[in-house]
Amino acid sequence: MNVTVKDIPVTQLNKQHLVEWRRHLHENPELSFQEVQTSQFVYDTLSSFGNLELSRPTKTSVMAKLKGAKPGKVIGFRADMDALPIQEETNLPFASKVDGVMHACGHDAHTAILLTVAEILSTKQEELSGEIRFFFQHAEELFPGGAKEMVEAGVTEGVDMVFGLHVASQLPKGKVGVIFGPATSNSDQFELTVKGQGGHSSQPDKTVDPVVISAQIITNLQSIVSRMTSPKEELVISVTTLHAGEAVNVIPNEVRIGASVRSLTQDVRNNAMTAVERLVKGITEANGATYELDVAYGYDSVINNEEATAIGERTLKRKLGEDAVLHGSAIMGGEDFAAFANSVPGCFVFVGAKEKDDPSPAPHHHPKFRIEEDAMEDGVKYFLGIAEELVF
Ligand code: NI
Repeated sequence: MNVTVKDIPVTQLNKQHLVEWRRHLHENPELSFQEVQTSQFVYDTLSSFGNLELSRPTKTSVMAKLKGAKPGKVIGFRADMDALPIQEETNLPFASKVDGVMHACGHDAHTAILLTVAEILSTKQEELSGEIRFFFQHAEELFPGGAKEMVEAGVTEGVDMVFGLHVASQLPKGKVGVIFGPATSNSDQFELTVKGQGGHSSQPDKTVDPVVISAQIITNLQSIVSRMTSPKEELVISVTTLHAGEAVNVIPNEVRIGASVRSLTQDVRNNAMTAVERLVKGITEANGATYELDVAYGYDSVINNEEATAIGERTLKRKLGEDAVLHGSAIMGGEDFAAFANSVPGCFVFVGAKEKDDPSPAPHHHPKFRIEEDAMEDGVKYFLGIAEELVF
């Protein structure tokens, strides 16, 4: 058992900064790949701490290195910084000042948390054995994502382990969701055009009706989940867009179908897309139609490394209390932390941030999304605890 001697405190001033920074970011949200002011704010704030080596791995991301006086492990902490194209409806005094753009996923909190961790740890350089890298990542919300770009820029070279977190508006404050293995889903999609032969609705025999064929396809897609995938595996196929025809007395030439496909493992992911094409090919062919299928593979599933996650869990219990940890199963949302976790062993946890007196908190990506600000301190303690255990 690793006996940790240090317990790095979070001061009143740190807590004050945490809230100030989060509110500043919340008021000034920027969309993915456009985080110009945000990354400058992060860069300038980090510059004010001292002891950090700052760089810009990409145009709107920031990396800070804190190199210890003694050799040791190299660990990475990651926060994402981008907002969403949503009109805020929270009525908060520090609501977004930008029309149609909102921090509706809590990335403002993530950035403020990591800034605070950097503020605290930057004063401990003399006692540090090893190195801490702070990754302030752009564009989590928009594929291909900023994480991949940062990893390709080499930020994880030489890193032993990487840690990240997400606030969770529907998980009670004081609880942290820890998941071993797959934690988020592979997030893929496809667009399908079923090409028939249009004509008059009164003469269906003279057409190849893509609407009826599409109905068969949509119904059959669910068999991939229920009949072609093990009941012990997770898979979601949701047809989410459907466009056909303009007039009720005309059978259209084609139907366009869009769908989202979510899975946890590479096997299920690949089998699902193979089955989609097989069904589409078979059904269209059987009915004399043709098709065009465009598959877009999105973020990989975040796979939490066994050892890193055990460290994360132990740290949470030590810093937040034995009953703070909730063991969950994977969520079927996407998260580009996967690019970091594919590059080096990683752990991604969900920090409860439900508002105390809100019985039905808004979900993430909702115009009324809010968090309990006190919960950010749990995030700070999590990162500090990891540092205490691995590099102090
Ligand atoms: Ni998010």
